[in-house]
Amino acid sequence: TQLQATPLRTLALSGRRGAGAAARPTAGSVRCSAAARSYSITLLPGDGIGPEVVAVAKDVLSVAGSKEGVELRFREMLMGGAALDAAGVPLPDETLAAARASDAILLGAIGGYKWDNNEKHLKPETGLLNIRAGLGVFANLRPATVLPQLVDASTLKKEVAEGVDIMVVRELTGGIYFGKPRGFGTNDKGEETGFNTEIYSAAEIDRIARVAFEVARKRGGKLCSVDKANVLEASMLWRKRVTAIASEFPDVELSHMYVDNAAMQLVRNPKQFDTIVTNNIFGDILSDEASMITGSIGMLPSASVGESGPGLFEPIHGSAPDIAGQDKANPLATILSAAMLLKYGLGVESAAKRIEAAVTETLDNGFRTGDIYSPGTTLVGCKRMGEEVLKALESQK
Ligand code: IPM
Ligand code: MG
Repeated sequence: TQLQATPLRTLALSGRRGAGAAARPTAGSVRCSAAARSYSITLLPGDGIGPEVVAVAKDVLSVAGSKEGVELRFREMLMGGAALDAAGVPLPDETLAAARASDAILLGAIGGYKWDNNEKHLKPETGLLNIRAGLGVFANLRPATVLPQLVDASTLKKEVAEGVDIMVVRELTGGIYFGKPRGFGTNDKGEETGFNTEIYSAAEIDRIARVAFEVARKRGGKLCSVDKANVLEASMLWRKRVTAIASEFPDVELSHMYVDNAAMQLVRNPKQFDTIVTNNIFGDILSDEASMITGSIGMLPSASVGESGPGLFEPIHGSAPDIAGQDKANPLATILSAAMLLKYGLGVESAAKRIEAAVTETLDNGFRTGDIYSPGTTLVGCKRMGEEVLKALESQK
């Protein structure tokens, strides 16, 4: 049997797993040191720039792990368009089974022009939604932090952008993305229609609210719940349940905001936000908006975790087919996702810190991919950026 990561407990216990949860002795040897920690990682490179950024992040993971006496074993599986081409489906059964049986999953990106006109069940995006649902990873953590080195890359004025540090907690396995009924039909006038359902149960709201309160408690202690409770019933229940759960977290300051206002406030005065919790579709939109404050979507990682079982870690950017295969992609979002994998997925926070420090050092040394380039810095490609992060990692004590 497999020992599974316990991401929620990890969240609750400041990123460190309880004794006994981490160690899985290597077959045939009994080791008493930290070196006995060994984990299996499923790699899902996917499409477009996915394979380039995952290849770089894999090496970074290996080195950061070994520096902390953690052995990582990798298994690469097909997903997205790559799986469609090879196996005819966007998420083969073997891929989901391998992912479930592993300790954590690192995903690159999926999608591309080639499959854009496919029927829905044959779209790469369907594979992504199915793996999120299949793993039960209902809580998606999307940090948007403005790094001092990159403040000039933000499209916002320096004084608005600098110091921004927001965590968007997005509900990931419910709401309009999954609600039924959905489909295409015909109305009484004989016109074609398309429809979806925004639906949340109280239990679904409660569990994402608890994760968000826990995250907020370990950050600035402020949680803003974003909804559209002035119009939508699903949002009215959302607000009611989030308010009810707040009584379990008296140390966290809760506020509510309508999503249209939140979209505006994010560019007006983003520093007012600490932790944001919101539904699946608002979280999709607001996390893209928040990412741009930081300068580039190419910098932002994410972690998706459930109640039990392995977590899914992926950059929030897409497959960028326009620059795929040209060694132009920014691998830092995937490298930082690997750091989140170590912290939230495996509970090896020390190794995560190493990666974060190595990224900071690489930026301090002036290396930039095209998306974060500014005059006076050194323009590099995906591979070289990875090599510089590895160099920084290897020179750490
Ligand atoms: C994201 C993406 C996905 C989503 C797409 C690719 C299905 O935009 O992870 O934010 O909408 O969740
Ligand atoms: Mg999105």
